[in-house]
Formats: sequence, structure tokens, C-alpha cells
Amino acid sequence: MADAYPDPRLRELAGSSVLVTGGGGLVGSRIVAQLAAHGAHPIVLDRFDAYPHSVRDQFEVDRHAAHVVLGDVRERATVRWLAGRADFVIHAAAYADVAACTRRPDTAFAANVHGTQTVLDAVAESPVKRLVFVSSASVYGHGDAAGGGAARFSEEQPLTPISVYANTKLWGEHQVRLMLGGSGTEYAIVRYFSVYGDPQVPKPGSHSWMVPWMAMSAETGQPLRLNGGGRQVRDMVHVDDIANATILALVADQAAGQTINIGTGTPTSVREIAYLIASHYPDAAFVETPMPGGDPRGGYADTRRATDMLGWHPTITLADGIDRYVAWLKSTPGAIPDWFTTPATLAA
Ligand SMILES: NC(=O)c1ccc[n+]([C@@H]2O[C@H](COP(=O)([O-])OP(=O)(O)OC[C@H]3O[C@@H](n4cnc5c(N)ncnc54)[C@H](O)[C@@H]3O)[C@@H](O)[C@H]2O)c1
Repeated sequence: MADAYPDPRLRELAGSSVLVTGGGGLVGSRIVAQLAAHGAHPIVLDRFDAYPHSVRDQFEVDRHAAHVVLGDVRERATVRWLAGRADFVIHAAAYADVAACTRRPDTAFAANVHGTQTVLDAVAESPVKRLVFVSSASVYGHGDAAGGGAARFSEEQPLTPISVYANTKLWGEHQVRLMLGGSGTEYAIVRYFSVYGDPQVPKPGSHSWMVPWMAMSAETGQPLRLNGGGRQVRDMVHVDDIANATILALVADQAAGQTINIGTGTPTSVREIAYLIASHYPDAAFVETPMPGGDPRGGYADTRRATDMLGWHPTITLADGIDRYVAWLKSTPGAIPDWFTTPATLAA
């Protein structure tokens, strides 16, 4: 994997310890795999309860390995102990689902606000060189797409989160700047746009992550749901590209103290995504469903900072990424969770 991203800056990571909170999740596990390929020593802190066992196993993080700690980011002593042994920290742990955060704002607050504060407290009193805080394009809300068209989101524009999830991410961004700005620890904030790619599996009651939702719907003979008619847009970034960008944010000189969009710069409507998936399933049908609360009309990334500060650019096109996802799904039918074919859960 290291050969896919030849970059001399990544040599700095060889032999260094990198604490990855949420390292047992979709993005975290890809970051951990890439760090290991670059010769770093990743340390994982994760609750490992975001998915059922069958899904978790797809992420290939061995919960019994010496570098993996089963725990909560709110456990002050654990986080302090781990941060004290880390050269770098990537804080990716979060209650990472828009709909779940709306249903359970208390859990969102505990994981995304309290947990982030605990990580920041520990980092502030440790020798960590740089923390990368994983944020989200959801902080832009609807942006200025007043007429419903696709908006380009740039890092300097006003932020108007429209969901509990987005609000916790915005709080985290501010708190990182307030606590680490001017301290001995550098920081970088990365705002991911819509992440997809195998082995992503949807969560029950969620409306996020349309590639797995639609591919699994087609695979199980159910119609592909077009929330709000599917006119909203997303900037789809493959998880392998996301992991690479996050790791570059750890080491790129110009990223210190910066907030950087991680997106492709290409808007794609939900309907277009559905058509790409349906191209693999000749019998696929579509159904239009109402727009869920907290779901943004969407936009796409201004990528200038990612290019200039990280030297990063996406390497996997959406068509290729979807081909890869569908091929993985067809070869891994056990990845479809049992609840997926239960009508009561699907209706959520
Ligand atoms: N997937 C996306 O489209 C997307 C977009 C923007 C931002 N993000 C952010 O990227 C990060 C990773 O998201 P993901 O898509 O991999 O989600 P995920 O749910 O697969 O991974 C999150 C991980 O964090 C862990 N976690 C949650 N609460 C925890 C706690 N209190 N203590 C310890 N571990 C905890 C979970 O067990 C899970 O393994 C999150 O911060 C998320 O908000 C994701």
C-alpha cells in the first residue's frame, strides 16, 4: 500500500507511534493499515461497539492485538496513558451517524464533545507533536445553495450546521483551535466529505452512506431509495484516499494550524450515484422517499487547500470505487447485516 502513495514526507512516520482513536471503525481501520504500511506503529483506542461482529471483522483490526485497546475516549486515565506514548494522534472516534446523533443527542454529546475534550486534555499535557482532528463537511450545513443548486464549500465561509452531529463536529473544531493553538502541540483539522468504499456497511436507522445502502438494496432485490428525489449532491471520496489525506495532514508542514477540506471537488447527485450502482444490477428499481431531517442539500469541496497544503489529490474515481464496492459485496455476501432485510428497521 505504501507504493500507492509514494511521498517522502511519510518517511517521518517510520518508527513513530500514532494513536488512532476510532481505529476500529471504517476510516480508522484504513488509516491504521496505511500507517503500518509506512512503518509507523499505530495504537488503536476504540469501543468496538459501532457494528455487529460480522461487520467489524471486515475491518481487519484484531481486537486482541497488543496495539489495540478496547476502551472509551472518555476514559481519562487510559487516554492520558496512551497519549503519553504517542508521537502523533489522529482523533477519529465519534458517534458517526447523523440520524443516530439526532435520535440520541446525549450519546452524541458524550462521544463527540466529552470524548474530544478528554483527548485534548491528554494531548495538551503530552509530548505529542501533532493532532489531526477528524471533522466533517456537515459543518457547512446547506451553505449558500439557497436555490438548491450545488454549492462549493470553502474553508473560510460561515458555518451553519443543521444537525446535532454537525454541531458536535463544529464544537470539536473550535475546541481544538482554542486548546492547542499556540501550545507545544500542532494540530490540523480535516473536514471529510462523503466517505465510501469497501468494507463500508450501513448502520440501522441511518440515512447516511448511500453507496452501501443502495448496493445492498440492489443485491437483496429491494428498490434503491432516492431520498428527496435524489437531487441533493454529495462529494464522494474513497476511504483509501481519505486515509491517505489524513496521514498527510499529520506530517505536511503547511497543514499545521489549518482546516482542510478532504473532497474530490466534484458534485454528484444522489440519483447519479444510484444509476452507477444500478449499472451493475439490470433489474434494479428506484423509489422516491421524503428527505430525512438533518440531511443537507449538499455541496462539494473547494480542494485548493488540500492540493496546496497537503499535496493531496484523490486517486480513485467514483465509477472505479463503486465497481470495487460491488465486486467486494458480491464476493462477501455475509457483509449484509441481518437487520438489512428486516422491514421494520429499513423503514427507520
Ligand atoms: N463516513 C463518513 O462519510 C464521514 C464523513 C465525515 C466525517 N466522518 C468522521 O470520520 C470519523 C470516522 O468515521 P467512520 O465513518 O469510520 O465511522 P465508524 O462508526 O465506522 O467509526 C467510528 C469509530 O469510533 C468508535 N467510537 C465511537 N464512540 C467512541 C468512544 N466514545 N470511544 C471510543 N471509540 C468510539 C466506534 O466504535 C467506531 O469504531 C468520525 O469522526 C466521523 O465523524 C465520517
